[in-house]
Parts: sequence; C-alpha cells; structure tokens
Amino acid sequence: MHTGGFAKWTRRFEDERERRDAQGDPDWGRSAVLHPAVWAGIQRFQVGEDGDGANLVGKADRAGDADYGQAVRLFVAEEQNHARLLARLLAAGGVPTLTGHWSDAVFVRLRRLMGLRMELLVLMIAEVVALRYYRALRDGTDDPLTAEVAGRILSDEQRHVPFHCERLHASLAELPRPTRRPVMELWRLLLLAATLVVAADHGPALRRLGVGRLRFVADVMTSSHAVVSAVLVPCPDAWTSAG
Ligand SMILES: [Fe+2]
Ligand SMILES: [Fe+2]
Repeated sequence: MHTGGFAKWTRRFEDERERRDAQGDPDWGRSAVLHPAVWAGIQRFQVGEDGDGANLVGKADRAGDADYGQAVRLFVAEEQNHARLLARLLAAGGVPTLTGHWSDAVFVRLRRLMGLRMELLVLMIAEVVALRYYRALRDGTDDPLTAEVAGRILSDEQRHVPFHCERLHASLAELPRPTRRPVMELWRLLLLAATLVVAADHGPALRRLGVGRLRFVADVMTSSHAVVSAVLVPCPDAWTSAG
C-alpha cells in the first residue's frame, strides 16, 4: 500500500524535538495565577493529552509503513510532552492534576476496537477542538506562564492536524470514491456534537478567556472545512503557506 512520504513528517518532528531541547522548558519558577474556571479546564485538557499512545503506535506499525510508524512515535511523544507541560503549569498554580475520569477509560477501550482510519478520525476531532482551545488560552490570559505553555502546545497542534490529514487521505482512498465525502460529512457532525459538549462543559472558562460558547463552536466548525478538503484533496502547500 502506498501511503506517501512520511519521512518528511519524521524529519519535521525530529527538527522540532531538537529545537525544543535547545530551547529548554519555560521558567517554572514563576507562579501562575488564573480564574478557578480556567484551572478546571486545564485540568481536564491535561488528562486528555495523557492518552493511550501505545494503542495508536501498534495500529500505525500494522499499517506497514515504517516511516509512518516512526512519525507516529514522535507525535505521541509530543502529546505526552503536552500532558507534562500542563501538569507543570498546574503545579505552578498550586492546582492538582486529575486522575483519569471514567469517561476517559471508556474512550480508551472504544478506541482499541477501532482500526487506524476510525482512530484517526476520532483523534482529529480532539485535535481540531484543541486548536481552538489552546488559541483561546494563549490569547485570553494575562498570565505569562500560561500564555507561553499554551503557545508552545498550539504550535505543535498546528503541525498535528495536517499530519493526520495526510494519513487520512491515504486511508480514505481505500474506500469507494462516492463514500469519501459522506464519511467526512459524518465526521463534521461528530465534531459538532463533541464541540457542543466541550463548549457547554468549558463555557465559564471560555468566557473568562474572552470567547463565548457560540463563537467557540462557530470557529471550530469553520476550521473543519480546511480539514475536510485536505483529507479529500491533499494540498500540502496550502498548509505550509498558512503556517
Ligand atoms: Fe496535544
Ligand atoms: Fe495534538
């Protein structure tokens, strides 16, 4: 099966890891001050970042593209680094991390039943919602440590979305052509449902960050159009020029 040139993604992830190592961590000595509703949101996202990477790596390896398998390992390491950064941020504010919510355990089990394509579609929902959330966190707070952590995570997430788009394009190409767009329309419906849940759950925190619930949902749904086109008709240059 031809899945395209994932060696370039491995290189991008490796370059980023080098840059990260050279840059070092934010200065955790500063304390972080945020509204309790915003802390509660960060606690929930911290648990979400701390996902089940081994599961995805296994599926990527079975997909039979060594470059892709390697890129997925580097991707998982970045997500684990997000969980670590958010845990350190919580510690800087004297706020504890949450132990997993029961819904996370159910979600991990559900994901084990999925193939790579389904897993990436579900993962992409989390990534697209996360993009808008970390942007709100970066731009909506006057706490410098929080803005720095959110900015670092956001720039990683901006790389994750086109990475998954490229693999999903190959996965969808295995389906009969007339079914591809309906699959992505269904994906947008699931994205809408998930975004409505997040907006309801995180409403007070989003308001503190200057983003109303409806605004949040509208922005996520607008950004989903670029994802759907990238999956159906890949155009890697569009992503690079958009930064
Ligand atoms: Fe992340
Ligand atoms: Fe991500």
